[in-house]
Amino acid sequence: MKQIVYSAPGKVILSGEHAVVYGRPALVCAIDKRLTISITPSKTSAPSNQGMKTVEKGVRDFLKQKKIPVPELFFSYSVDSQIPIGRGLGSSAAFSAAASAALLELYTGQEWSLEEINNCAYKIEQVFHKNPSGVDNTAAVFGGLIYFRKEFEFLKTISSLSLKIPSSIEQNLFLIDSGKPEETTAQMVENVGKLYNRKGLLIDKTLRNIEKITKRIVVSFAKEDTVFFRKSIEDNQKELEKLGVVSGKTKSLLKHLQPFGVGKVTGAGGTLGASGFLLFYVEKRERFLAFIQGKRLESMVFHSSYLGLKKII
Ligand code: PMV
Repeated sequence: MKQIVYSAPGKVILSGEHAVVYGRPALVCAIDKRLTISITPSKTSAPSNQGMKTVEKGVRDFLKQKKIPVPELFFSYSVDSQIPIGRGLGSSAAFSAAASAALLELYTGQEWSLEEINNCAYKIEQVFHKNPSGVDNTAAVFGGLIYFRKEFEFLKTISSLSLKIPSSIEQNLFLIDSGKPEETTAQMVENVGKLYNRKGLLIDKTLRNIEKITKRIVVSFAKEDTVFFRKSIEDNQKELEKLGVVSGKTKSLLKHLQPFGVGKVTGAGGTLGASGFLLFYVEKRERFLAFIQGKRLESMVFHSSYLGLKKII
């Protein structure tokens, strides 16, 4: 049997992180940074790290549940990724998606549908992150701009939007690295859950507001309305702060960036230290670039990608 190679994109949650865990919609977009996994069948067992062991077990369980026999096969693998790890850009989901696709093919000798790979990747994300919504793996598998909603564990609405992010908006979007959060995604989701238990009414209002903002961002894309988009990003960040997922350090960074545009945390965030990547809409480009260079802040231009999971070999 020959080598199997798959690649999957990272993602940016434009709006709806955390709210999506509670059945509210999220607007997510795949980006042009990708993870590639190569699997080579071997005669003897090769070393795997914990992440790969989790995927291997997840894929085996997935097949067993479908009553598909799983052969005892050995393989070696390598992973090559352009997606920063543990900073909200979907590195874990891209790994779950690409590795699921490759192992499903290794064990069954056939390519699987995107829907089935997504179901399998979701099961694996549940092991990695305890209570994920499934938005990350969905973006990694399908690519493009997706309006995602989890109604129940068994019912997720995945709407691939036909509209694109208007270039008047996308050309001004940057991703700024505030640093790796000290907390994991699972811990951040749990923290919001605890806050919800303590302050149900208040958090419910915040989640409702986030839903409105998510919808407004879709409208801002449809109408190519940069002013409406800008306001929505600003409002989104305020709501995320109310959810307690933004650290003091990140709030201060955004304050320093205020003269050049508006930004929000994207992904799970972090409160103890850094909060991962920030999605930033730049209004004063030259001054912004000079500022981030002066402060030695890591940043990249946001590029949406319509290419989801892809079989390379
Ligand atoms: O792991 P991250 O940083 O990409 O965040 C995932 C988004 C959350 O809404 C916080 C959790 C989820 O599973 O939807």
